[in-house]
Amino acid sequence: FAVPAFNYSDIWELLSIAEAAIEERAPVYIAANMRVAETIGLEYLGAMGRTAYDLSGGRIFNHLDHSSSVELCKRAVDCGYLSVMIDASMCPLEENIEKTSAVVAYAHRYGVAVEAEIGRILGRNAEGAYLGEDYLVCVADAVRLARETGVDSLAVGIGTAHGFYRQEPNVNLQRLREVNDAVSIPLVLHGGTGVPAETVRSCIRNGIAKVNVGTQLHAVYLEELRRQLGGG
Ligand code: 13P
Repeated sequence: FAVPAFNYSDIWELLSIAEAAIEERAPVYIAANMRVAETIGLEYLGAMGRTAYDLSGGRIFNHLDHSSSVELCKRAVDCGYLSVMIDASMCPLEENIEKTSAVVAYAHRYGVAVEAEIGRILGRNAEGAYLGEDYLVCVADAVRLARETGVDSLAVGIGTAHGFYRQEPNVNLQRLREVNDAVSIPLVLHGGTGVPAETVRSCIRNGIAKVNVGTQLHAVYLEELRRQLGGG
């Protein structure tokens, strides 16, 4: 079993995720990336997140996705977020450890969960940008990041990418297994759009406990919006 995290970029996407979660009585994360959080404002998103939590009987968790800013993570905690992601995966390991530790120290005081990232999630969009070759998570780095920060979950670079895939993703299950054997915290799969269901299942069997999906929702939403505006 893995808990899905669905990205939203406006209130209508947020409401559709919340409605579906309440209908299914399923736990979900509602996730806004940095750009959405900064555009709408953490105060609004924090208030909506709390409402979603209450109306769902405590099943909907408000999450800040891919924040490269320690300050933004802290402000999200202040605004009532239940979970934040500090993404310093583009920094050298020491700096990643430093930034993640700073967020953990602040968030844990308020009982807020923290996700960090190690390795790189491929792709180029608002959720994060990386196009290089050396994306694969290094097991020793993952162990250090988990052990030295006390972070609650780890997003791992195993070949998935943000956005639509041009060809089927080459997910490195072997490396996922190695990380899962070496660290005891839950692992997170990013770039969920377009990953075949069987691959997602294999990932879950090998330590993935949260699966992020965004692009697919935005695409369906925009397609329908376009259809309705076009009068179709
Ligand atoms: P997709 O947009 O590719 O589904 O990825 C979502 C994600 O990983 C957000 O962090």
